[in-house]
Amino acid sequence: MTTGTPVVSGLERAAGRERLRDAFARDVRDGLTAQPKRLACRWFYDDEGSRLFETICELPEYYLTRAEQELLAEHAGAIAARLPRDATLVELGSGNAAKTRLLIEALLARQRRLRYVPIDIAHDALDATARALAASYAGLDVRPLAADWEEALAALGTSGPLAVLWLGSSIGNLTRPEAARFLARVAELVAPRGRMLCGIDLRKDRRTLEAAYDDASGVTARFNLNLLVRINRELGADFALDGFLHRAVYEEDRGRVAMYVVSRRAQRVRIPAVGLDVVFDAGEAVHTEDSWKYSVPEIDALAAQAGFDVEARWLDRAGRFSETLLVPRR
Ligand code: AVI
Repeated sequence: MTTGTPVVSGLERAAGRERLRDAFARDVRDGLTAQPKRLACRWFYDDEGSRLFETICELPEYYLTRAEQELLAEHAGAIAARLPRDATLVELGSGNAAKTRLLIEALLARQRRLRYVPIDIAHDALDATARALAASYAGLDVRPLAADWEEALAALGTSGPLAVLWLGSSIGNLTRPEAARFLARVAELVAPRGRMLCGIDLRKDRRTLEAAYDDASGVTARFNLNLLVRINRELGADFALDGFLHRAVYEEDRGRVAMYVVSRRAQRVRIPAVGLDVVFDAGEAVHTEDSWKYSVPEIDALAAQAGFDVEARWLDRAGRFSETLLVPRR
């Protein structure tokens, strides 16, 4: 069992926190003075938001996690067999890496040693995940990297092939052009021998999708409205939580579930840390997240645009979710 050297010192961590807080303040100021108003979904994930997201993954309506779990439980061996034996496994947005264990186990059943680089912006969760994995598997060399995806791609060395995992349909939180640009960078990084495994949620009926993003127990609503709680806590704002509600709408023509927080009444909110008084009309919506959904041909087109060929694909039995193995085009 090995864990790599800590990726960030205490000082770096404090500097990182400060940079993040400044970026948050800038984004909130820019987003709430824009027309229409918006807030970026990357800010969902403070401690409470990360906890709520883990709860979402267990909700009966949020089929994505279970579908992907089913896929990996069934096909981890076949996926592992297609990855180069000397590849470093890199995971973008590793979270608690629950699903990744299936793949790690399949790889360690084939080979004695494996290097795994989990990448996540949430330092504490990353540390905990790295420790737990290293304790679970002899032969696993865990090298956590606390970074956002852009920083991570720049920081990854190129010694030996990489197998990059991007699970959970995180790709859906980028626009289609952003997704293509990001995949193109990964294609360059993993060429010529590496691979990318991408878990992507598929287009489906409105009822299923809207329930997945607006569950009966109200967890997704709390997750969405937690953004306002975070602005109150970190920027000293005075959002009244009962003044806003959660909305999720599937826009079928575009293939995305859009989430909003909607002002229940005309109101004014003070955000002292950014020197703003924000006026909301009754019914005014603040756009907080898109989850883009793909058809299989849309995935193929995206891969081609990014310079990848589709080497293999697996769908869950209900045809809700896909796992696509991408190989850089030769
Ligand atoms: C992290 N991401 C892939 C989730 C999604 O499905 O877009 C975030 C989420 N938003 C609402 N529920 C879950």
